[in-house]
Formats: sequence, C-alpha cells, structure tokens
Amino acid sequence: MRKTALITGPTSGIGRFTALELARRGYDLILVARNAAKARQLQMEIGNAVSTGFVQCDLSSIASVKEAVEEIKAGYQHIDLLINNAGLIVQHRQTSVDGIELTFATNHLGPFILTTGLVDLLKAAESAKVVNLASAAHFFAFRYQTTKLANPPHYHDLVIYSRTKLANILFSNELSERLAPFGITSNAVHPGTVSSSFAGDGNGVTAWFMKFFKPLLRTPQQAAADIVNVATAPELNDITGQYFAHSKPARSSGKAKNRALARELWAFSEALADVVLI
Ligand SMILES: NC(=O)c1ccc[n+]([C@@H]2O[C@H](COP(=O)([O-])OP(=O)(O)OC[C@H]3O[C@@H](n4cnc5c(N)ncnc54)[C@H](OP(=O)(O)O)[C@@H]3O)[C@@H](O)[C@H]2O)c1
Repeated sequence: MRKTALITGPTSGIGRFTALELARRGYDLILVARNAAKARQLQMEIGNAVSTGFVQCDLSSIASVKEAVEEIKAGYQHIDLLINNAGLIVQHRQTSVDGIELTFATNHLGPFILTTGLVDLLKAAESAKVVNLASAAHFFAFRYQTTKLANPPHYHDLVIYSRTKLANILFSNELSERLAPFGITSNAVHPGTVSSSFAGDGNGVTAWFMKFFKPLLRTPQQAAADIVNVATAPELNDITGQYFAHSKPARSSGKAKNRALARELWAFSEALADVVLI
C-alpha cells in the first residue's frame, strides 16, 4: 500500500520543505492549504513522481474545515501521516468568521476539527502518525484559561500565540491517549526558531525579532528534516504523547503535561466545533 501524508500549511516555510522532503521519500501527498495558486505552484515543483492532491481549506473557518474533511474522506482511503503544521501569530486582535479569536481558531480549533474528523482514515492506515507543530513559546502561556481561549479579555500577540501552542501540546497528548488503542501515535514538535514567513506581516516585537535575528535562525529545511525524522524514524515508531524540541525528546511545561487541562480543552473544542458563536 502506498503511503499518504497530509500536511497543512505546505505553501510556505517549514511546511513547504516538509512536503518536498516527504515527496522525495515517496509519500503521496494531500496538501491542505488556503491559497490555491501557491498550492498549485508546489504541486508543479513536486512533479509527477508521487500523487499530490490539493484540498482548499481556511483553517480559521469551522465550515471550511468541515468541508475539507468531507472532501478528503470522499477522495482517500487512508492517511499514514497527518502533519498539523499551519499556524500564525496575529499582531492585533482579529476575529474569525465564526467570531473566535483568529490565532486560536487557526492554530488549534481548525486542526482539532480536521484531525478528529479524519480519525477513520488514520485507523485505516497500517500504523498512522500525527505530528503537531507546537513551540517552546508554550512556556509563555501566562494566565491560560480554557474557557477564555475563544474570546480572551486582553490581547497580547505573543501571549495569545503561546496559549495556542500550549493547546497544540495538550491536544497532541490527549489525542495520543485516545488513539493508543488503535496503534496511532501523536507527538508535538518545537521546530526551533526558524527563518520563514512567520510573523512576517507584522511590525511588532515578534516580527522585529524574526527579521533582526534572521541570519542566526534555523532554516526551514533544518526544521523540516526534524519533523520528517519524528514522523518517520523507525526507532520512534512506538513513541507517543511526547514533546520534541527539534527531533529530540524534550521537557514541556507543567501545564502542557496536565491531563485534566487536556481533557477540558478537548470538551471545549468539541462544543465550539458544533456551536458557532455568531
Ligand atoms: N518559525 C518559527 O520560528 C516557529 C517556531 C516554533 C513553531 N513554529 C510553528 O511552525 C508552524 C509553521 O510555521 P512557519 O514558520 O513555517 O510559518 P509560515 O512560513 O508563516 O507558514 C505558515 C503556513 O500556515 C498557513 N496558514 C496560516 N493561516 C492559515 C489558515 N487560516 N488556513 C490554512 N493555512 C494557513 C500559511 O498559508 P499561506 O501560505 O496561505 O499564508 C503557511 O502555509 C506553525 O505552526 C508555527 O506556529 C514556527
């Protein structure tokens, strides 16, 4: 059976090089992206050696993610590798079409709906793996409260982003528990501080930091190599519920390891996925 990898956000930065490396290794790809022109460009670059499908999806929109899930379920039999890579930081508060703070909608809720919607395809693979792009920024998830994630009372871009990256680890851990009986693993990866398009739109502190230190940052190719390693290295086959920094197991924060917080986030996300706020 040919192996199929789904990757979100393959149109830029880390995701682009992860897609290219997986194609080089012979994986058929499902490119989940919001920008059709960029996705088509990547398809052309990858060429015909592997099959490359494109599914249009705005991860910040609940309806768009649900449509993408249906399209993928209709077109594919199994998913061996699901890489939740897409993510962003938003300098000034913005709200998604569903009335949810945009960073949380894009970085956590969309991937939550996508991944849980595709569990049957993961189960249909020989031994599926989920890799979730998190960040060491999760250590700065100050005043994290599950019920305030969708509509936080105060906005600071880095704190808001950090909370979503903590959510990525909590989700990854809870998913690992729920999918362990089916032999499916779920791990979270901090890719290092990487020179990509990340924070590129802003002119705040994070954007300034990324631009100023650009020559010292890791390349997206290096980060992609680590992600592909976590996703495919035979010696990591049975590792699940782990937080990696680059491709080494690393210590995550106390909150990230909190099982009750993970369960609470899961229930909160399920409720949001069904009830649109506006
Ligand atoms: N760069 C770092 O230093 C760093 C550090 C730690 C963790 N990370 C994590 O690594 C991941 C990849 O980041 P990157 O550095 O490669 O950033 P990037 O170059 O900005 O790429 C982000 C990708 O996410 C996609 N995306 C953003 N919003 C989306 C939406 N609403 N729907 C669908 N796709 C969307 C973008 O699509 P478009 O091409 O259409 O914009 C792009 O393909 C993120 O989860 C980030 O949090 C990055």
